[in-house]
Amino acid sequence: MTKKLWGGRFTKNTDPLVEKFTRSLHTDIALFEYDVTASIAHAKMLGKCKVIPKKDAQKIVKGLVSILNEFEKGKTKIDQSAEDVHTLVQALLEKKIGAPAKKLHTARSRNDQVSTDTRMFAKDYIIVLIEVVKDLQASLDSVANRHKTVSMPGYTHMQHAQPVLFKNYTGAYREMFERDKERLSEIYKRIDILPLGSCALAGTSLAIDRKFVAKELGFSKVSQNTLDAVSDRDFIIEILSAAALTGMHMSRISEDLIIWSTSEFNFVDIDEAFCTGSSIMPQKKNPDVLELIRGNAGRLYANLMSMLVTMKGLPLTYNRDMQLDKAPLFDSLNIIKDQLEILSKLIRTMKLNKAAIDRQLQDPGLYATLMAERLVKKGVSFKDAHRIVGKNYARL
Ligand code: ARG
Repeated sequence: MTKKLWGGRFTKNTDPLVEKFTRSLHTDIALFEYDVTASIAHAKMLGKCKVIPKKDAQKIVKGLVSILNEFEKGKTKIDQSAEDVHTLVQALLEKKIGAPAKKLHTARSRNDQVSTDTRMFAKDYIIVLIEVVKDLQASLDSVANRHKTVSMPGYTHMQHAQPVLFKNYTGAYREMFERDKERLSEIYKRIDILPLGSCALAGTSLAIDRKFVAKELGFSKVSQNTLDAVSDRDFIIEILSAAALTGMHMSRISEDLIIWSTSEFNFVDIDEAFCTGSSIMPQKKNPDVLELIRGNAGRLYANLMSMLVTMKGLPLTYNRDMQLDKAPLFDSLNIIKDQLEILSKLIRTMKLNKAAIDRQLQDPGLYATLMAERLVKKGVSFKDAHRIVGKNYARL
């Protein structure tokens, strides 16, 4: 059983139900490498500032480096009874180097630690996400370039409206994903602020060097207000909001592709590698991937709502409610990344069915607006032109 970080004032054992109920290791284990990396920087700083003896700091750093190496090799024995990832890392260090390990948790609290770890995790993830969004855009460009001159019916209210170029259709989604990338880059700036050193809520009386830690961990700034630093979860809500929007864009393109791949439309052929079949109907090739992307939009919105509601009305500063931020955060980030990757491949490999598209392009209604504009060029007012073309169209 891993020792608690806070056992001192307690004489009774924690009820096993409470142990289980308050534990977050199953979720925050995803922060393991960040927790160790942040602890290495913290220990270096404590040694440099002589808050702890340099020798102890060196032993701590050495121990943590080997803990990190073991974890990366999959050799870490994870004690599932640890309350959270911070407790686990502390216990692993105590086991590895003994007494000096007890000096690591100086001038910090799990409150500033968890925010630091989560920010580090989110920063790395956002960089990856921006790259996968770029790849999806490249796939849209690639299919557009293969069909540069292809026209297709454009729709409003799902009725034939006017012909559009296929590359403008893909271009519309390109624009949405461009905004998604911009949003991620803007959010990044607000995540890139180090909370460590804010401790539980009020900083510390010990002479620490927060700028040193920020530099070691690649943060651009240090947070200014300790109370805000430990209780701010805006950055998580912003990520969840960006994920919800990206998910909405992916849901919309999925819906378009689902409609286009119906027998009725037959505009696109989704590659078999991205479809699934039916256990009873032998002929079926279903767009399940696209349907799951459409469905996941609900989960992404729910994750955003869950955090907005969790944070509403929380008094300053840290409250345990905030521990519930990580499950929705990790869930939304994983969904977005998986979907961007799969959608990118699906789009790159899909085929357009020109013959089916051309058949729909024969609808004269698609050219009605063009006809009215031709009359305008001849001096007819648009209102009259609209009426003239409308009357003739009704007779077709
Ligand atoms: N597991 C906690 C979380 O994720 C860490 C902070 C706990 N702090 C505390 N004072 N109980 O939020």
